[in-house]
Amino acid sequence: MADLTSLAYYIETFGCQMNENDSERIAGVLDAAGARRAASVEESGLVVVNTCAVRGKSEEKLYSYLGRLRTLKRKRGLIIAVAGCVAQLHRDGLIDGRPFVDIVVGPDNYQRLPEALAPSLAQGRVFARVLTSRSRNWDEEARRPVLRENRVSAYVTIMEGCDNFCAYCVVPFTRGREKFRPLRAVLEEVEALAQAGYREIQFLGQNVNIYRDPATGTRFPDLLERAAAVPGPEWIRFITSHPRTFDPETVRAMARSPKVCRQLHLPLQAGSTAVLGRMKRGYTRDEYFEKIHLLRAAMPDIHLSTDIIVGFPGETEEEFRETLSALSEIRFSNIFSFRYSPRPRTAAAKLPDDVPLDVKRRRLIEVQALQKTIQVELHGTFVGRTIRVLGTGRSRKDEAVYSGRSEGYQVVNFRAPDDAVGRFVRVRITGYGPYSLRGDALAFEAPRLVAPPRPAALG
Ligand code: SAH
Ligand code: SF4
Ligand code: F3S
Repeated sequence: MADLTSLAYYIETFGCQMNENDSERIAGVLDAAGARRAASVEESGLVVVNTCAVRGKSEEKLYSYLGRLRTLKRKRGLIIAVAGCVAQLHRDGLIDGRPFVDIVVGPDNYQRLPEALAPSLAQGRVFARVLTSRSRNWDEEARRPVLRENRVSAYVTIMEGCDNFCAYCVVPFTRGREKFRPLRAVLEEVEALAQAGYREIQFLGQNVNIYRDPATGTRFPDLLERAAAVPGPEWIRFITSHPRTFDPETVRAMARSPKVCRQLHLPLQAGSTAVLGRMKRGYTRDEYFEKIHLLRAAMPDIHLSTDIIVGFPGETEEEFRETLSALSEIRFSNIFSFRYSPRPRTAAAKLPDDVPLDVKRRRLIEVQALQKTIQVELHGTFVGRTIRVLGTGRSRKDEAVYSGRSEGYQVVNFRAPDDAVGRFVRVRITGYGPYSLRGDALAFEAPRLVAPPRPAALG
């Protein structure tokens, strides 16, 4: 192997949407350097594992995956790169005791991957490299294409990092301090995506609400408005908002633009003001409820989703019941719920993890059972209605069945007489389960997306 042109790479992604988008950036960088994508680990000479550190379990996924790669590496040559949040969190600590890991690369350093690989490839043996410096170069990034797998909906990162330091959260130590991507680069990317036929744009950041263009100071509600003015994509979403900084201006910008989906993910974490205080979330239960009222007053049909943690240090049974009552009162369309897991370097790691595992387990089951009942009731109200769905995929089992998302981000499986991927479809809802809706296509709205011959490479 002499250079990157003879290298086949495989990327395994764990974690959130930002990691998915980062894997598309990594693919773009490797592709621009001449490497090609392999269909499987077995066919690759380089495996990049893009990792998540948010909970103990997320990190453990990396170690069990590395076990598999190590066996493979013993049989034949293989370069192993660990990317993402675990890489940034542990840096050279990842190589200590794991000499089979060749490269450790954090989120600010993906542009440097080809340069890190070149000496190893030229000399036929691997030189270990740790690339975890902290300086995001948005300009250099803009010159490298993002190699997207999804041709319908595109992730666009607008900011990265977090300065909130919630007591339980490792993200400020993996993604670093808040960094804002220039508005010009964001809008250029949206325009390129529009030209490539993308139907939906999803803006990403750990705290999108506090976005500020480094050059002009333009803020998030204006970013939404400017993006909505780009003809082409019909749906715009964003994740994540923080209840403390989610502001009335953003509510107004959402309500004004028909392109901004009537959907919002607003992580509550806990229903008790005392627990929220210990978590250092910066808002009370009442303040959270006020934001929900504001949203529903402006957009009565809005779908809300949230994140919940059970068993945070010191969480009493009464405090936990307040999480259940918040779920009953607000009636989210979807939730993501987790058992508290202590993480290195966080403030909560210094507190005793004193809610017993079986209590955490039982609380999680209660949360999920309650939410399931709420979703069944909510989904029941859809039967007989005709809703707008963006087709995103086809069922493997049945050619005539497609899957897609509603404006509220609900999964909708539907029968359609023609290819529905990349098209807006009017679907009549005929059935449901707790986690999805079912229906039949009545009409196609937009012209068929002309599929590019290969995943669209965008600059
Ligand atoms: N930037 C986003 C995402 C954070 S991680 C935000 O601020 O919401 C996604 C979710 O994981 C969090 O909202 C939280 O519910 C959960 N989480 C984070 N750290 C955790 C921990 N130590 N234990 C359990 N759940 C955790
Ligand atoms: Fe973590 Fe809190 Fe920042 Fe979200 S806002 S990434 S939960 S520290
Ligand atoms: Fe995980 Fe990092 Fe995302 S810790 S949730 S991959 S920001």
